[in-house]
Amino acid sequence: MLFGKSILLIVTAGIAAYKCPELVRRLRELGATVRCVMTDGAKEFVTPLTLSAVSEDKVYEDLFSLTDEQEMGHIQLSRDADVLLVAPASANTLAKMAGGQADNLAATVLLATDKPVLVAPAMNVRMWEHKATQANLKTITSRGVDLIGPVEGEMACGEYGMGRMSEPADIAAAVDSFFNTVKPLTGKRAIVTSGPTLEPIDPVRFISNRSSGKQGHAIAEALASFGADVTLVSGPTKLPDPFGVTMVYIESARDMLSACKELLCTDGRPADVAVCVAAVSDWYVADPSEEKLKKTCGEAPFPMTLRENPDILAALSALEENRPALVIGFAAETENIVGNAQAKLLRKGCDWIIANDVSPETKTFGGDDNTVHLITPAGANQWPAMSKSAVAKKLTTCIASALTSELKA
Ligand code: CTP
Repeated sequence: MLFGKSILLIVTAGIAAYKCPELVRRLRELGATVRCVMTDGAKEFVTPLTLSAVSEDKVYEDLFSLTDEQEMGHIQLSRDADVLLVAPASANTLAKMAGGQADNLAATVLLATDKPVLVAPAMNVRMWEHKATQANLKTITSRGVDLIGPVEGEMACGEYGMGRMSEPADIAAAVDSFFNTVKPLTGKRAIVTSGPTLEPIDPVRFISNRSSGKQGHAIAEALASFGADVTLVSGPTKLPDPFGVTMVYIESARDMLSACKELLCTDGRPADVAVCVAAVSDWYVADPSEEKLKKTCGEAPFPMTLRENPDILAALSALEENRPALVIGFAAETENIVGNAQAKLLRKGCDWIIANDVSPETKTFGGDDNTVHLITPAGANQWPAMSKSAVAKKLTTCIASALTSELKA
């Protein structure tokens, strides 16, 4: 709940601004007081009168308004708030924040504040993916700004992709957990593997798989939000780096294993948990060609010798020294989900397995949802169908309770 909390909601120019009255209502339902600042562009999408009515307060718009500055100076706006929430945060406002600009009331308040800042970006997928936007995000998050979303989906411009503002209920929940989250994994270290691996055939061709990395990245982000010090060892994905996580980028399974081994103990601190979510290629090409292989023009194609990749999950589970207290794997199955996953748990020697059905009709690979079973030596527990980020949060809650009670569920 947000009773006693004052939120300064900064609304910038994005079509998602039409959702701000709903956002204000959600925040107030949780008990917060909400005061709004709007940019000129934002007023094209939602009126100050609407936000004033739902917030039951004056809406601040103009840096050079004599009356506004007399009543409530721009410094006072931030002093009165417990948190600044920028929603929607346009690419332009993110750029101003990164560059320290102060050419309107919103940017000036953001530059003049010493309060925590949360931003809910909203923009077209190309603007979101643009290197300038990604660099700006890196800059502001390295200064302590927290991101809420964005999410993937249909856009007002007709395109599909990452950049949609999170729904008002999710933003309100994120603000709530910002104030109310106990961080039970503070002081714990986590290693997470995610995405596919990529095994070269020659300089331009490779063997890989359809893993999007969504589940692994969500788990890394959830562990970090619980206070863990998380390193994500990731194969190539199209996802943005999760907030608050240290990234190690690899391509092959063998590089993924070396990276994980190096992370087992850093600065004298052993890892407490390893979660192997990556869809690791089972084989690599024994002798990848240094030159691009040429077409064989009707002749039989070159034979390719495959060798089995190391099993990272099994290797971490079998460690005698520096074995993380909890080693968790995933089981991608298309039939006999629980039975196959239980056999995998025994075969790989890990503590828990999350079994999921990856048959094409489930759309688990690449999709946003997942239906899983948590398999432990004590038995199998089916979780209801939920989003990958909800699976990540639920698993993180189980990890936190196991690590804090030192029980392996
Ligand atoms: N895994 C791993 N290293 C490998 C293969 C898999 O660390 N070389 C991990 C995955 O990250 C996952 C678990 O092992 O946590 C199970 O992966 P999965 O693809 O379901 O099983 P496989 O071991 O590949 O077995 P199979 O293909 O026979 O189902």
